[in-house]
Amino acid sequence: PKINDLEGQHWIITAGPTMEAIDPVRFISNHSSGKMGYALASAAAERGAAVTLVSGPTNLPTPQGIKRVDIKSAQEMLYACRVAAAEQADVFVGAAAIADFRVKDVATQKMKKQSDENEMQLTLVKNPDIIATLSTEDAAKYFVGFAAETQDVIAYAKGKLERKGLDLIIANDVSRSDIGFNNDQNQVVVLSKKSQWTPEKASKTELAKHLVDIIQTYQVNQPK
Ligand code: C5P
Repeated sequence: PKINDLEGQHWIITAGPTMEAIDPVRFISNHSSGKMGYALASAAAERGAAVTLVSGPTNLPTPQGIKRVDIKSAQEMLYACRVAAAEQADVFVGAAAIADFRVKDVATQKMKKQSDENEMQLTLVKNPDIIATLSTEDAAKYFVGFAAETQDVIAYAKGKLERKGLDLIIANDVSRSDIGFNNDQNQVVVLSKKSQWTPEKASKTELAKHLVDIIQTYQVNQPK
């Protein structure tokens, strides 16, 4: 194993779900566990990187030697990432499952049931695309995203790689129940514009080590 070869690098990693308030007691969120992002943070720190983990609400312990910044909403996540990237980071990894939309007008008081209504409507507005925004702002030298797909995995992932201005995208097929969301095992395909890597199916902890290796090798071969 490589020892401290990431020393001097700053990695910013997002992880977990975001939680978008509806009113003081309710929210919109998703089932992301944060496991993959936390495993990547551990693996990068083990090789000597300074890691800022910008995390939505999870039940996971903070990995050793990592700076963890807790946020709830997508807007807070973007802000925390910008603060972390006040000096350009080396690597940004977007492993968080960010809510695509947030509630337009968050109620300041708990919303009441209207007994005469069987329907209610919430107006949602689009959240910022955090990784795409930060890529435009050159917040890091290298950008690595995830693409959770249920079909045409490679084609959709390639589209995201281009659209979001990424160097690498880690694609997985979330239609399979044996891997991915809320599971300890994961299998992915890593894509750059020109290359493709297929690490073996493994625990998220093991896979994270391989992914950090692929990211580091990419940096060495594509100097910026
Ligand atoms: O478009 P999609 O959500 O599938 O893209 C996934 C990738 O983009 C992940 O790396 C995710 O962390 C990132 N993303 C983001 N901001 C969003 C939505 C997704 O950074 N609002």
